[in-house]
Amino acid sequence: MMFSRSSSRFFQCARANSSRNPLQRQQCNTHIGQWRDRVSVSDLKPAPRLASVSSNWKELHAESLRDPEQFFGSLALERLKWQEKFQVVRNVDMNKGHLEWFLGGKLNVSENCVDRHANSHPDRPALVWEKDEPGDTEIVTYQQLLEMVCKIANVLKEFNVHRGDVVAIYMPVSPMAVATMLACARIGAVHSVIFAGFGADSIRSRITDAGAKVVVTADQGVRAGKTINLKQTVDRAVDGLSLIETVLVMQRTKADVPMKHGRDVFLDEAMLNALPWCMPEVMNSEDPLFILYTSGSTGPPKGLLHTQAGYLLYAGLTHQYVFDCSPGDMYACVADIGWITGHSYVVYGPLSNGVSTVLYEPGVPTYPDPGRYWEMVERLRIKQFYTAPTAIRMLMTSSDTYVTKYNRSTLRTLGSVGEPINAKAWQWYHDLPGEQRCAVVDTWWQTETGGISLTPRPAGDTFLKPGMPMRSFFGVEPVLVDPESGQPLEGNNVNGHLCLSQVPPGMARTIYGSHQKYQDTYWNVHPGLYFSGDEARRDSDGHYEMMGRVDDVMNPKGHRLESAEVEDALVNVPAVVEAGVVGYPHPQFGEGIYAFVVVKEQTSESDESVIQDMRQVVRQRVGGFAAPDRTLIVKALPKVRSGKIMRRVLRKIAADISGEVGDTSTCADSSVIDPIIELHEKKFPKSK
Ligand code: PRX
Repeated sequence: MMFSRSSSRFFQCARANSSRNPLQRQQCNTHIGQWRDRVSVSDLKPAPRLASVSSNWKELHAESLRDPEQFFGSLALERLKWQEKFQVVRNVDMNKGHLEWFLGGKLNVSENCVDRHANSHPDRPALVWEKDEPGDTEIVTYQQLLEMVCKIANVLKEFNVHRGDVVAIYMPVSPMAVATMLACARIGAVHSVIFAGFGADSIRSRITDAGAKVVVTADQGVRAGKTINLKQTVDRAVDGLSLIETVLVMQRTKADVPMKHGRDVFLDEAMLNALPWCMPEVMNSEDPLFILYTSGSTGPPKGLLHTQAGYLLYAGLTHQYVFDCSPGDMYACVADIGWITGHSYVVYGPLSNGVSTVLYEPGVPTYPDPGRYWEMVERLRIKQFYTAPTAIRMLMTSSDTYVTKYNRSTLRTLGSVGEPINAKAWQWYHDLPGEQRCAVVDTWWQTETGGISLTPRPAGDTFLKPGMPMRSFFGVEPVLVDPESGQPLEGNNVNGHLCLSQVPPGMARTIYGSHQKYQDTYWNVHPGLYFSGDEARRDSDGHYEMMGRVDDVMNPKGHRLESAEVEDALVNVPAVVEAGVVGYPHPQFGEGIYAFVVVKEQTSESDESVIQDMRQVVRQRVGGFAAPDRTLIVKALPKVRSGKIMRRVLRKIAADISGEVGDTSTCADSSVIDPIIELHEKKFPKSK
């Protein structure tokens, strides 16, 4: 049936606009009447032959920027299974941050990721669950995954989850978690995965902001030999929250957990009675697929909304060409599904490409010893491996034999993501695990971009520069902007705000519930460009190197965290008056968390016990990864006259470069700065 813009689309949107579901309203409001003068699907030539990408990368890249409609439109037709073809390739307005791709198209993401491969290769491993104990591996084939997805989809339906409803997922890395994400996609529900290391307050604010009606969790998680009480945390998070109708509980450890009558249901039991087939819902290209929060325990959290077709195409395309993956390859990304890396490169990218994707449960690289990754590489014959610099730095401190005693001859590509990889760590990764023959790809991207945006791959030359993502992927055009003048910086050997003048189809479309904030944060800073929040350098060859964030986002162990999240948690400690939290260079974590804290004068507690309380509160409210590594109790914090804490000054002190605090004329009382420097130098003397 041909799609008709004037009839079915309009009525769908009219129906959705009267819907109580803001996700449906939000998505449709942007479409109507904006499709004129765009390249239509019937104009498209065949897709570029990316098979020969390495020999004509420059040409293809230029083509992707010159004619993105042709480039991505033809790839979308070729790579995705459409229930109805799209009519218009894209409708993008970089001045407004208005992004739509593949308009009029209808597809189902779970059908693309599972059914296609279950039909052609039912017995191929889809998920390879590397459980906490080494060697304890469970394999789920594409056929089995299809059944799991369908059963969970039917369970969700039974518990009143409909198209457009939000399902919160707070689960350990496991086949059940991946199948739950895909089950949402199957029925058109929108998942909001919450990293299973977040504390109750962070979960609650995310559930409330998204209006989730169901939470899917597990009795416990298992990480590096320790159990984590996930269900208990969810109970605290949803206590008294009327939004939540059902809590579905996967049994990971079969621990005895309290189940609330009428609300809590064991997922495994519910699946026993569910049918193993569920028709995939016919979704519009721009219907919401998932929300992923980047920050916010108190204050408004920021839920980035990703949609169906553009996201899936870009995740699959980057996955294939950055990692050099073919269907059936054994591929491992050791990220948690609670972050965007897990979404795009554990779940959607690899499954859309029909590869076997490893789900790494232990989280850390050193359990039970620093050879875990490489033992797994040998045992599972892994070809592509993707991790974060913090893990690499951790492993570098151990004996080389933890690497060399395992056979790594299957490895082809080694990826790095989440934070800058210093040249020394890059070299170690390249020389030791990579045996000086694997490509090391430093990939820069963000929750916002949905997929890898800067990467050395794919490109014609095999020349790699340690610690640099170097180039942009197809469809991405980086621009460096002078922060003072707001002008694009021409030429090489320049530093500036990293912006994109062309963005890929996988970009987030909005901040859920706050399009204005989305526009203000990303599109109104440097008009006509997407602003990433990062600073980058373009070297003498025109290659890009990342210099870090220019805002209050920290990156401890490659986890993204805003200063305000930790500060808001800290002021819940009774003895704490106020706190200023910043990142500081940490040899292993990349960035450590440094809290400058003012405590009540008449507090009877010792400094040490206040610091312990602070760590505990942050753990509970935000999560263990957010607990400060350094805490300094000070008399007062530097602030501007309006009362805003000058984190810029604290950052310099924390980084041991107090000589560079710069202009303090806007500080309401600059006399507070020297005592802080003195205290800092006394408590944390610089190592020689
Ligand atoms: O500062 C950049 C850093 O991580 C931020 C994005 O964090 P998140 O949305 O959590 O996504 C992380 C995984 C894609 C970026 O703004 N970042 C990510 N990759 C790199 C990086 N910094 C330097 N080099 C990278 N390769």
